[in-house]
Amino acid sequence: MFFLPKTAVNIKYSFMEINKIYNENCLQTMAAMPTNFVDMVLTSPPYDDLREYDGYHFDFEPIAQALFRVVKDGGVVIWVVADRTINGSETGSSFRQALYFKQIGFNIHDTMIYAKNNPIPSDCGKRYRQAFEYIFCFSKGQPKTFNPITQAIKQEKAFKSFRITKDGRNDLSHDHVAPKERKVNNIFSYNVGTSSSRDKIAFQHPAIFPEQLAHDQILTWSKEGDLVYDCFMGSGTTAKMAQQLNRNWLGSELSADYVGIALERLGIAKSML
Ligand SMILES: C[S@@+](CC[C@H](N)C(=O)[O-])C[C@H]1O[C@@H](n2cnc3c(N)ncnc32)[C@H](O)[C@@H]1O
Repeated sequence: MFFLPKTAVNIKYSFMEINKIYNENCLQTMAAMPTNFVDMVLTSPPYDDLREYDGYHFDFEPIAQALFRVVKDGGVVIWVVADRTINGSETGSSFRQALYFKQIGFNIHDTMIYAKNNPIPSDCGKRYRQAFEYIFCFSKGQPKTFNPITQAIKQEKAFKSFRITKDGRNDLSHDHVAPKERKVNNIFSYNVGTSSSRDKIAFQHPAIFPEQLAHDQILTWSKEGDLVYDCFMGSGTTAKMAQQLNRNWLGSELSADYVGIALERLGIAKSML
């Protein structure tokens, strides 16, 4: 059992420190982790080499396999991804990656959509304007934690329900307590760009995901004290939101510049690297 991160301090274990960003390839970080170590992964991989992060080519399959080893039974990987469009046609990498995760033992538990309220304007040729990414939830067995986000149901809409009796008739006369709220659907809409974080420094990274997205996913699939890992930590959005939600966290990031941005967002001194 881990301690709750009351403050952003590194917690030392015999094998590795947590609440820390490792400035290295995630394969190296995961190699140091015991099997069945993290409760949840929330990450967004480099898409189709769309951006060359310090010239590094993303090595997907070994990373997926390492994730399967370090995630606990009942843990999940939340994989936020989209496809590059080349010559007017989508690469299909998102689907290929999802099927690979399934092939190595994960369930494709939920395919959610991250819809962008204000997508970057671009000429999409003979296609509709691109306005979403996938949020895949890959689970190792059935998820051990699920705290769904709910919304209130307006009472007049809620009551239109009936029960089928044993002989197949509709029974409208039974006592029915109308539910007051229900789970939200699996399309999540967020603002992108400068309204996705208050931290100006975060935008020195070219591809952050919205803080609210990280908040919603961490809240849903983990509980206080759990360990949340981001293998592509970027500007530190996952760590920041995990810390706010009293989860432990751990990250890997190749670029020292991005680690610097993340530590500044977290209010952690660089000397803790
Ligand atoms: C799409 S960005 C993640 C952005 C992040 N979600 C945020 O909100 O800031 C992907 C990041 O992965 C890093 N990266 C790419 N390959 C990596 C690897 N093998 N190990 C660790 N980091 C890697 C890149 O430098 C980049 O910052």
